[in-house]
Formats: sequence, structure tokens, C-alpha cells
Amino acid sequence: MSTLVILGTQWGDEGKGKIVDLLTSRADVVVRFQGGANAGHTLKVAGEQIIVHLIPSGILYPGITNIIANGVVMDPAVILEEKNELRSRGHFLQDSQLLISEKAQVIMPYHKLIDLGREELLGSSKIGTTGRGIGPAYEDKAARIGIRAGDLLRPDWLRKRIAAALDEKNFLIEKRFNKPPLKLDQVVDEYLNFGAQLSSHITETTSLIYSKISSGSNVLFEGAQGTLLDIDHGTYPFVTSSNVVAGNACCGSGVGPSSIEKVWGVVKAYTTRVGQGGFPTELDNELGEELRSKGYEYGATTGRPRRCGWLDMVVVNHSVRLNGLTGIALTKMDVLTGISPIRIATSYELDGKITDRIPSNIEDLGRVIPHYREVKGWSEPLDECRSFDDLPKNARDFVETVEHLSGTPVTLVSIGPGREQSILRKPPF
Ligand code: IMP
Repeated sequence: MSTLVILGTQWGDEGKGKIVDLLTSRADVVVRFQGGANAGHTLKVAGEQIIVHLIPSGILYPGITNIIANGVVMDPAVILEEKNELRSRGHFLQDSQLLISEKAQVIMPYHKLIDLGREELLGSSKIGTTGRGIGPAYEDKAARIGIRAGDLLRPDWLRKRIAAALDEKNFLIEKRFNKPPLKLDQVVDEYLNFGAQLSSHITETTSLIYSKISSGSNVLFEGAQGTLLDIDHGTYPFVTSSNVVAGNACCGSGVGPSSIEKVWGVVKAYTTRVGQGGFPTELDNELGEELRSKGYEYGATTGRPRRCGWLDMVVVNHSVRLNGLTGIALTKMDVLTGISPIRIATSYELDGKITDRIPSNIEDLGRVIPHYREVKGWSEPLDECRSFDDLPKNARDFVETVEHLSGTPVTLVSIGPGREQSILRKPPF
């Protein structure tokens, strides 16, 4: 058995896409198990930049099976767009490179209308969603009125399922959001057409993953978003609508917990967040601006500027515990070059008490005062370093401080966007 889960430990955008892309060269199967087109994974290969939202990052390697598993809410239009874009750039030449679980939930036009309509009505208390219909799609899954990928291949059944959902959705669209209702025939035709275009990909994937794991293939589970956006364990209500923690690699793809061997959390060397919600180490100043421009911190999905701040080990350690991390991939170290001293939050003060836990209530999180440790920065560029020993001493000390504060080995250090700008310290499989 050789399985590895890779996920974000902060509020997403930690650089998971690059790490997954790098490690996929050693994987046979890559599985996306939650979220939807709200994620944006930026991949850089030979100077070329590719952003994928739904198709797993392993798509750039021919010969790897990429699976969009049952826990994902998938937007067929986005998958087809990504497929065309990848093909036009010489990738994803075989349909067999991508399988979509017939149980994956499908994003419908009413999900996007409701997502955007709600945010508009919420005004200043909005969540700051990506507007991709993620929340409403997961709601429908729980309400048992969701449309699943396999339904797109059954015309009569699809019509029945959409008709059953549309009654209630049109009531909301017309009465609550003042928009014209959706027409059943139009939606059914559009989605049957999507089904026809995706039919070679839609299949049963759970037993395939089981047999791949049983036969000793290297299976990589690719998380989206970050642990602090988890619906249960994140900064609720400013979170996404799925469980993003490692445990959901099991539910979201149909494997048992004993099949998960390693869990690596991606930690950005500082912190960023898009959308609303608490962020104790935020730097709302020139230094935050410097991190944003040096790290090119703009949302890969929405283009929104990301809020930037110091590395927060209270956040990272929350993730270490929740995900049972066995390794950390530390990214974007190069962005810190030239900044000294570097601050790392190690605890919070709340109402005069010191804590190393994230308060469950968002109002409390807004009141915490982070306590910092300062470490010396470095001025040497890191982008040419190819081994841990190539790093300047203060950069090595920074890595070791992260290991010490988290009790978790830093198994990979990333010092630039390119595949080659990575120092792998432990084998992933
Ligand atoms: P939703 O997932 O579109 O419903 O958005 C809910 C929250 O999660 C918002 O704050 C989004 O900005 C955030 N979010 C969703 N996906 C990502 C991601 O991939 N990276 C960073 N933030 C995300």
C-alpha cells in the first residue's frame, strides 16, 4: 500500500497545485476528493502557466489516472473548458487520463444563481464565496435533491430529478432574488449535452481506487482549499461547504481510513486568505503589500487580492492535529528573502489568557492578540538552491523552527514556482 494525502493547512492557496504536480511524477493515480471549481491550482511547467480548477493536477503527466471522486461538486462546463484548454496546449490527449465518479454531485445553473444572490443580499456580512455554486450544491446533496454525474447519462431520470429540484429553486430565484425563473427543457437539454460530452469519463471509481491501492500503486489524494476553511473545523461561518481535512479523503473517495498511509500538509511560509473572516496575523500595511506583490498573491479563481500576514503556528498546529500530518511541505520561502526579522505567531492572547488553540467562535478569533517569535531573515536569493544545505543558514534555521514548533518534519521545501525549485527531503511514497 502506498498512499499520500496532500492538503492545505491554512486558508487555501498554500501552493498545493505545485506540490501535487511535482509529486505526481511518482504517482499512478491522483484523486480529487472534495470541493469544486472554487479551487484554483496554478501549475508552472517549462515557463508555461496553467490554472486548473477541477481537473486533478496529475493531468500534465500522460499515463497517470486522474479521478474526480464522489466528494466533489463538479461543474461540467468547467471540466469541458479545462479539457479544451489543456488539449490546445498539448496536454490531456487521452480521455482515459480522467475519470469522474458517477456519484459526484453536479453544479447546476441554479446553484450559481443562489450562491451569488445570497451574497448580494448579505451585503457587508457576506462570506466572500467564489460564486461557483459550491454551498448550494452541497446543500442539495444533503437535502437529497442533488444531481449526480451518472444522472447526466440517463435522460428520463435526469428530467425527473431536475424537475423535482427546479420547483423550489425557481421559487427562490423569482421571489427572493428577483431573477427570471429557469426553464426545465433548457436546463435538461444543456445537461444532457454535457453528459454526452463527458460520457467517456463518467464511471464507477470507488472499486478502481480500491484495486489500485490493493495492487500497490502509488495513489495521491489531492485536497482543495485549506484546513481553516473546513466546514466543521475552520473559521465558521467564513468557510467552504465541505470537509477539507484528511479524514474526508476517505469519505470523499470511498476508501477506508486504514488505507491512508501518509498525510502531508502544505504550509506557506507566511499566511494568506481570500474572502472575509478572522485572520489574527494579517499585515494590513506596507509589508503585507510587499508579500502580496512578491508572492503574486491574487486569487487563482476570482483574481481577488489575497490578504497577507505572518506565518501563524497556532493555525498550522490546528492542522497538524486535525489531519494527523506526517510531513510538511513548506512553500514560498523565496518570498521572505530580504525581510528581517521574520515573525512567527506561536500563541494567542484572549481576554488576558494565553492559548495555543483556535477559538471556535469567530468573534473571539477577531479579538485574539497573536504572540510572536522573531527569527533572523536572509538576503540571499533562494531560487537556485537545490539541496537543503544550499539554503543560507537563516533559511535553514527558519525551516527547523517550523519543525520544532509543529513537531512535524518538513519533508519538502519549495523555493520558487518551477518544478525544479523544490527540495525533497523525504520520499512521498
Ligand atoms: P466557496 O467555497 O466558494 O463557498 O467560498 C467560501 C470561502 O472559501 C470563501 O472565503 C472563499 O474565498 C474560500 N475559498 C474557496 N475555495 C478556495 C480556495 O481554493 N482557496 C482559497 N480560498 C478558497
